[in-house]
Amino acid sequence: MAERLRDNRKTEEIRAQVRETHLKVTDFIYPLFIEEAEGIKKEIVSMPGIFRFSLDRINEELDEVVALGIKSVILFGIPLKKDAEGSESWNDEGIIQKAIRYIKSNYPTLQVIADVCFCEYTDHGHCGVLCNHDVDNDLTLVNLRKQVLAQAKAGVDIVAPSGMMDFAVREIRDELDKNGFQHIPIMGYSVKYASAYYGPFRDAADSAPSFGDRRTYQMDSANRNEAMKEAQADVDEGAEILMVKPALSYLDIIRDLKNNFDLPIAAYNVSGEYSMIKAAGKNGWIDEQKMMMETLLSIKRAGADIIITYFAKEAAKILNNNE
Ligand code: PBG
Ligand code: ZN
Repeated sequence: MAERLRDNRKTEEIRAQVRETHLKVTDFIYPLFIEEAEGIKKEIVSMPGIFRFSLDRINEELDEVVALGIKSVILFGIPLKKDAEGSESWNDEGIIQKAIRYIKSNYPTLQVIADVCFCEYTDHGHCGVLCNHDVDNDLTLVNLRKQVLAQAKAGVDIVAPSGMMDFAVREIRDELDKNGFQHIPIMGYSVKYASAYYGPFRDAADSAPSFGDRRTYQMDSANRNEAMKEAQADVDEGAEILMVKPALSYLDIIRDLKNNFDLPIAAYNVSGEYSMIKAAGKNGWIDEQKMMMETLLSIKRAGADIIITYFAKEAAKILNNNE
């Protein structure tokens, strides 16, 4: 006889008991934009509620993050000086290296993840070394080693290469292992699509390409089989966590990775996904908080174990109140 499915939806008590997916504050990674300057706390116009901080004011944000029970942050640096190769990214006194040292000494319980890329550090805004108006894969690998080693020496907990260079994970794993950093996990931005959803981030991080786009290195949104190849390559090269990015338009890809790989899956709920909800919320067109929670839940239900999200603080407040 057919089940009466509505019976299990009768009350909040029974709904809570049969609920299949649960968000936890510890699922979240909160992104931080750190500018090499002083006295800065500047809201990003296209990302209401998200700020760029200079290191001397980042404590304002970190105190709140820790109080809310968020355990992980991912760092993006905005350097004072940019050049063709992005050499500030491997300067031991560069903004991210300083930020890592500052956070690890003042907030020792926070897990610090560093994005590994060059677009914030190059004067042309591309994710590596240029050669004939395109990013040269293997020249970029040489610099990736330098950047990751500088982050490791500064005390980073996890590195997350986001440039979509072939063999990046292999090179980074080798560089870390050779220098005594075997314990540092690599969270690969394994499946990263060329996406319009990154628009607000590029304002936030000053990292828009000065010409062209990123379609020669980031994936074509139409491709699903290729996502499996990218993920497999990162697994073979030694990644410990696989990421899909963006999240919302790529929930099918998150599920594919979850079903086919044994590694933890992360999803990046990117800037444009954040801004859309914020904008509609400000207009009063949607219930912003409910839509935020439904979105985060959908990413988890699709198969993400870890969610990188600008909503981390707001969602944490809701989850903490419900306990
Ligand atoms: C840098 C990087 C980007 C994001 C994370 N790391 C932007 C890009 O590829 O242009 C996007 C994050 C977001 O939109 O929230 N490679
Ligand atoms: Zn980049």
